[in-house]
Amino acid sequence: MGRIIALVNQKGGVGKTTSTINIGAALAARKKKVLLVDLDPQASLTIALGAKGAAPTVYDVLKGRAGIGAAVLAHGAYRLVPSGPDLSGAELEIASVAGRECILKEALEAVEKDYDFILIDCPPSLSLLTLNALVAAGEIFVILQTEFLALEGMSQLLDTVDLVKKRLNSQLRLGGIVATQHDKRKGLHREVLESIKKHFPQAVFKTAVRNAVALAEAASFGRDIFEYRPKSAGAEDYANLAKEILNRR
Ligand SMILES: Nc1ncnc2c1ncn2[C@@H]1O[C@H](COP(=O)(O)OP(=O)(O)O)[C@@H](O)[C@H]1O
Ligand SMILES: [Mg+2]
Repeated sequence: MGRIIALVNQKGGVGKTTSTINIGAALAARKKKVLLVDLDPQASLTIALGAKGAAPTVYDVLKGRAGIGAAVLAHGAYRLVPSGPDLSGAELEIASVAGRECILKEALEAVEKDYDFILIDCPPSLSLLTLNALVAAGEIFVILQTEFLALEGMSQLLDTVDLVKKRLNSQLRLGGIVATQHDKRKGLHREVLESIKKHFPQAVFKTAVRNAVALAEAASFGRDIFEYRPKSAGAEDYANLAKEILNRR
């Protein structure tokens, strides 16, 4: 059975999209079959992999206008389902549909068997789209920046996860916490990382992704870090993270 992982944090700019892409690329480099799902109307993942404007999108899939297979694109050794701006309307449009939280799960059932990993890049909110990801997933990775207030949103997020577990998806578990944009020279970053580890000793991955400009640059060239700078710190960190993910089941 493959693993379906939702990368979440209701805060924007913490590294969800960057982590989805580069964890996926690192797993694909280890011969795993990987599908990335862009579930954010801002479509950062789609744009960062050079697929802006691709159609059909995850929106068409959620609306039932396209099968998920038709939306899957290839990028290097992995695949992605793109997003686009019309996804922002999906929230309202599917709000009145019975079983509205389960639409993505049902769609993924058609392709689940083809992949070892399906990584879902969530929008920066605890919206119906994110709920769809939490229902479809077996586990979540919380992506955090080691900045002031990093833990602030965690209790709200974990409350939502508990509710989803109780009502919609009893399988869901916290698969890990990824610290990103980490600068160990900064006292605050070290302190925040320590306190996250103290609160969640089992969940935090040993690999903290360092602050590395090549990760941001790669996206502007439509590439993952292994295509853009395979010898960079960013590539090294995401490769190590992928190793940990494979060892943690
Ligand atoms: N480790 C990192 N080092 C430097 N810049 C990063 C790193 N991770 C992400 N970024 C940059 O920070 C910004 C926000 O990251 P992103 O992955 O889009 O966050 P989110 O998806 O949570 O909104 C982007 O411009 C991205 O390129
Ligand atoms: Mg994002």
